[in-house]
Amino acid sequence: MSEPARDLIGNQRDLFDIPAGVAFLNVATMGPLPIAACEAGQRGLARKLHPWTIPDADFFADTQRLRPLLAKLIGADEAGIAFVPSVSYGLATAARNLALEKGQKILLLADQFPSNVYTWCEHARATGAVIETVAAAGNVSLSDALLDAITPDTGLVACAQVRWTDGARIDLAAVGARCREVGAALVLDLTQSCGAMVFDVDEVKPEFVVTAGYKWLLGPYATGFLYAAPHRRGGTPLEQNWITREGASDFSRLIDYTDAYAPGAERYDMGARSNFALLPALQASVQQILDWGVANIEATLGHQNRALAEALEERGLTTGPESGRGPHYLGALLPQTAPDDLTARLRSENIYVSKRASRLRITPHLFTTQSDIARFLGALDRHLA
Ligand SMILES: Cc1ncc(COP(=O)(O)O)c(C=O)c1O
Repeated sequence: MSEPARDLIGNQRDLFDIPAGVAFLNVATMGPLPIAACEAGQRGLARKLHPWTIPDADFFADTQRLRPLLAKLIGADEAGIAFVPSVSYGLATAARNLALEKGQKILLLADQFPSNVYTWCEHARATGAVIETVAAAGNVSLSDALLDAITPDTGLVACAQVRWTDGARIDLAAVGARCREVGAALVLDLTQSCGAMVFDVDEVKPEFVVTAGYKWLLGPYATGFLYAAPHRRGGTPLEQNWITREGASDFSRLIDYTDAYAPGAERYDMGARSNFALLPALQASVQQILDWGVANIEATLGHQNRALAEALEERGLTTGPESGRGPHYLGALLPQTAPDDLTARLRSENIYVSKRASRLRITPHLFTTQSDIARFLGALDRHLA
């Protein structure tokens, strides 16, 4: 893949409804909706005041508009995209369609997000496969440890581009290549990177990718998408609904039941996918991200976070080498003396970060100002003194 051009983006606070006194550094928990996305969602919700004005064709319009935009985020073709309400739903779809043999290994990252652990524990119970958890050790990075652990008895690797607790980065191109070498399936949860880090399905070649819409895609809750590789588009959906069948747009013929699905990954779409309120909002958010450009977002957040990481290191909060983490994602190891209620104390000063395990997760975005960062560092100095 050729390297995309990268420009630094100026501050975008005007597009958000974030008061000057709020330092919101917590996109990893919940990205804010841009104002335009909220308005699009409100307009969409209001359509339901007058259902008689909603034409049948509109059950298809939002998903038709969104599929190519979502595909563009990950360098995919739109026929590979399906709508899911959650990561767990998308992962369950992947699990249903990936057969494993007794004794084959399922590799997971240590401290991986629970939805991407429980799904595979259940799949291991059902198939007799064995879960193996990979951790960084000594000088070996998490990414290298994962690569080392992929052996001919590996049936499946389920991981992320960055780990949700600390932002540790996985070299997915290398992992994808190694999976293909040994014949293992690769399933990715890109919730903590899609929209903020460049990713290309052609480079990594995963079987399935799942992404929630409400974090780095700045979309509404209960939105998300699944990508299925071309040879995985003929599988079994989690549920059998009417709208993913061939000919569903002719409402008068829905009881002419058919076994044929709509083409591509559409068969995996969730029931009630045509959400008239949420999808217009997601579309506006994703369009905004594409307008900024994912490579430019990555470069800009990386630039901002480099300075912030240095300031944190000066205060004894280690974030690790930049090459080992997602540029948009800081997981700072807290000193043992840090107060247990640190995030609550910060929240009382209108500074929002999250704590996962022993790390302070600091995830600003294009709306973050120098004054937000100065207030955050000033508050840290007081509470960690
Ligand atoms: C990495 C990751 N995956 C998935 C999710 C959400 O999972 P689900 O959609 O199953 O609720 C989160 C939420 O914090 C997350 O951080």
